[in-house]
Amino acid sequence: MGIVGLGYVGLPLAVEFARSGLITTGIDLDLRKISAIEQGNSYVPDVPAADVAALVTAGRLRATRDFGVIAELDTVNICVPTPLRKTKDPDMSYIVAAAESVAEHLHPGMLVVLESTTYPGTTQEVVQPLLERRGLKAGVDFFLAFSPERVDPGNDHFNTRNVPKVVGGTTNTCRELARVLYSTAIETVVTVSSPRVAEMVKLLENTFRAVNIGLVNEIALMCDKLGIDVWEVIDAAKTKPFGFMPFYPGPGLGGHCIPIDPFYLSWKAKQNGFEPRFIELAGHVNSSMPHAVLDKITEALNTQTKSVSGSQVLVAGIAYKRDIDDIRESPALDVMGLLHERGARVSYTDPYVPVLSARSWPGGCELRSVPTEDLPLMSIDCIAILTDHRVFDYEALVGAAPLIVDTRNALKRQFPHVFRLGAPRTTRGARPVLEPLALGA
Ligand SMILES: NC(=O)c1ccc[n+]([C@@H]2O[C@H](COP(=O)([O-])OP(=O)(O)OC[C@H]3O[C@@H](n4cnc5c(N)ncnc54)[C@H](O)[C@@H]3O)[C@@H](O)[C@H]2O)c1
Repeated sequence: MGIVGLGYVGLPLAVEFARSGLITTGIDLDLRKISAIEQGNSYVPDVPAADVAALVTAGRLRATRDFGVIAELDTVNICVPTPLRKTKDPDMSYIVAAAESVAEHLHPGMLVVLESTTYPGTTQEVVQPLLERRGLKAGVDFFLAFSPERVDPGNDHFNTRNVPKVVGGTTNTCRELARVLYSTAIETVVTVSSPRVAEMVKLLENTFRAVNIGLVNEIALMCDKLGIDVWEVIDAAKTKPFGFMPFYPGPGLGGHCIPIDPFYLSWKAKQNGFEPRFIELAGHVNSSMPHAVLDKITEALNTQTKSVSGSQVLVAGIAYKRDIDDIRESPALDVMGLLHERGARVSYTDPYVPVLSARSWPGGCELRSVPTEDLPLMSIDCIAILTDHRVFDYEALVGAAPLIVDTRNALKRQFPHVFRLGAPRTTRGARPVLEPLALGA
């Protein structure tokens, strides 16, 4: 079997297929990824290098840039990126390029499965015509299906093997072949009636998250105004054993999925004369959160008669979520950009992201993660906790600055110099404290 695109989705899938006994070939344009795999290394934190090394040595996993190998393969799964253009329209160029490359080597009897998240209709309206260009027909000469990827990077419990896989084929045979393929490596396969349904399943899941995160972010901003602790509210609400599912506020949405995928759906709906409202509204609230964080930092600095301009602000955690190294679409980069724009001296600490290149954030200069032991040596005015990595030494962070802005409720306990997103500054009944107190006061 083959996988086109060996990123956060493709590499774990390739490893799982190889582990289940299939001879697996990964195809990618990125030579660094190919040589990492050839040398038995991993660049995806959820995939141990030892697993890659063992599978490569056993001859069950290999990587190449040469699409010519498709001539020897029975199946190909396409796992390439699906970003948005600046206009928030789908950027289909990766899917089109990958499908064209597969089409050049497509042969009778082959199964092609698209896994990239995309708008409903892509498999049959975009990929199928490209694959059929040389005369082979889907469902007759070759087989075509869509199966969305649901991987959750950094999740200790759910992985490629134990997350059920949804599959829709362009014909019943296509669906059956894809079901059989996935059953070799994945515990539960759920079949649906068409690729279009499978495409929509993924977008429903991600829109559900985007909208609920938008709702809880708005509730957090509301709680801020009302002087209520949103974190306490959520903790109590989630004791309801039915009809409620907790979502948590934060500095905004990040990653390659939740901030992007709903706009694929919204674009397709608009093409068909339907104006989606929830997606746009949630997008509006979620993308305003970095500004809310900036306001919180400004409020914190004001209590010490300091301005953002000229203050030394250290951001703790720049990956888009806990315990991973992925900074794509991370709201931390937006917050850093806003701080830089307002004249703050910006630095960061994140053990998962040792270097932030100049083009990765709006500040336009390369930054390096500050090691925890160096924090006391810096005269930091404010630390903003934007990603709650479990490896952080929170005691050290709390002690390293006179002001802390906690956007994730990472500290749980309240300290007088900590400002939490969606919460009043001091504990219930306590008087506001205007001067920073020592740690643990
Ligand atoms: N990352 C996630 O958590 C996640 C979860 C579920 C679904 N998805 C979806 O899966 C898809 C892939 O996401 P990802 O996070 O793995 O992306 P990624 O950027 O980590 O990996 C994509 C890989 O595809 C390669 N590539 C690009 N064009 C290519 C081409 N024409 N031929 C061969 N290789 C090519 C890139 O070099 C890269 O290695 C996206 O549609 C994404 O929305 C991602």
